[in-house]
Amino acid sequence: MASTMEPLPGTADIWEPETRTWVRLETMAREVFSRYGYGELRTPIFERTDVFVRGIGDETEVVQKEMYTFEDRGGRSLTLRPEGTAGIMRAIASQGLSQGEEKRVFYIGPMFPGERPAAGRRRQFHQVGVEAVGRCNPAIDAECIAMQHDYLRAIGLPGAKVLLNSRGTVEDHQRISDAFREYFTPRTDDMCDDCRRRASTNVWRILDCKNSQCQSVIEGAPAIPDLLGVESRRFFDTVCELLDALDIAYEINPRLVRGLDYYEHTVFEVIYEGDELGAQNAISGGGRYRISLPGSNKSVEGVGFAAGLERLLLAQNAVSQEAASMGEIDIFVAALGEGTLSEGLRLAQELRRRGHRVIAETEGRSLKAQLRTANRVNASVALIRGENELANNTVTCKAMTGPDQDEVSLDSLDEWLAGHLLS
Ligand code: HAM
Repeated sequence: MASTMEPLPGTADIWEPETRTWVRLETMAREVFSRYGYGELRTPIFERTDVFVRGIGDETEVVQKEMYTFEDRGGRSLTLRPEGTAGIMRAIASQGLSQGEEKRVFYIGPMFPGERPAAGRRRQFHQVGVEAVGRCNPAIDAECIAMQHDYLRAIGLPGAKVLLNSRGTVEDHQRISDAFREYFTPRTDDMCDDCRRRASTNVWRILDCKNSQCQSVIEGAPAIPDLLGVESRRFFDTVCELLDALDIAYEINPRLVRGLDYYEHTVFEVIYEGDELGAQNAISGGGRYRISLPGSNKSVEGVGFAAGLERLLLAQNAVSQEAASMGEIDIFVAALGEGTLSEGLRLAQELRRRGHRVIAETEGRSLKAQLRTANRVNASVALIRGENELANNTVTCKAMTGPDQDEVSLDSLDEWLAGHLLS
């Protein structure tokens, strides 16, 4: 009896206080994505099956094994969306997109991959995602990765590792497929049954295999960036240069292909390296793609990413219990010395009225202890109002993630903050 009351395997009920953390992750996504000019789009949870088969690719694991597909009373084949991108493309295409026009949308909601549930792999999970559709240039890709970085930073996961690669364009795919086939075909005896089949059906899929025996073969496979044509290589190098200019750390993984067939050029994945997520350690992933539309020979191109809320929560809780319980913080106001506590509280109040998220020191501890708290709550900056600063009508402003520390007049504080807070 009790088991019929439980949610189905791979699904969950989400209760207070956890729901509050969910809302915070969603709110932060809305805030960060809208700063980059993305607007929210809500699409149906089910679509015609063809939207996913054509969009995601019929050789992908998702389409072959992992979709909730059913017939409605009219005999139409429908599918619960296993991911967000294909439905978003269908919606954008249904509105029409003129040549050179760009649409930037974000989405938040449940996805339903019917894969076998395991730790970190759910049958209903939730994504926040973005798509910039209609234009193709490396700057949009770099900005998309920068936005993903801003989001992860805003929710307290600034150090997660970004893996980057390029899959080139369709013009490169034949060359890359040939190189993979030449490498893998003589080695299939050392690989799992699935990979043996993939060597002749879709050799790229081998690179996604998690089987440890296959992994050791995959490690020696040709590196994709070395196989790219001149144009694709230039595109990839420009994405890397722009990320360097934006100070976004990444690691090139020359064998990253990602599990969906629609990708071209840039692909990326964010890995959380703590033990809490086990083998399912990708908290976010995305790339540039071209998606075929059902019922037409047209395709739409874009770039985007999606992050899994369940995995973000696991990683976030592991990184900082305190940050998770206190919410996200821009500024920590430290107080130092006689009579500075109330000054600090007053400054914090003023900054909150100007829209900043602020925590102020309430005990008058040592500066070291206060800065430790500023770090733990993941504040971007600490403002120190000590006796000297009070006398001089100044604030000492310290960036928590960089070397900048300046004593500025109260009048110039806004300007300093504008240069150091995530805008
Ligand atoms: P994806 O890599 O399939 O990409 O999913 C993105 C993220 O969703 C993963 O990194 C993971 O955090 C989470 N996720 C995926 N499957 C599950 C699952 N079964 N259980 C729990 N979490 C999961 C996409 O979905 C692409 N549509 C992303 C994209 C957008 N590419 C371009 N634009």
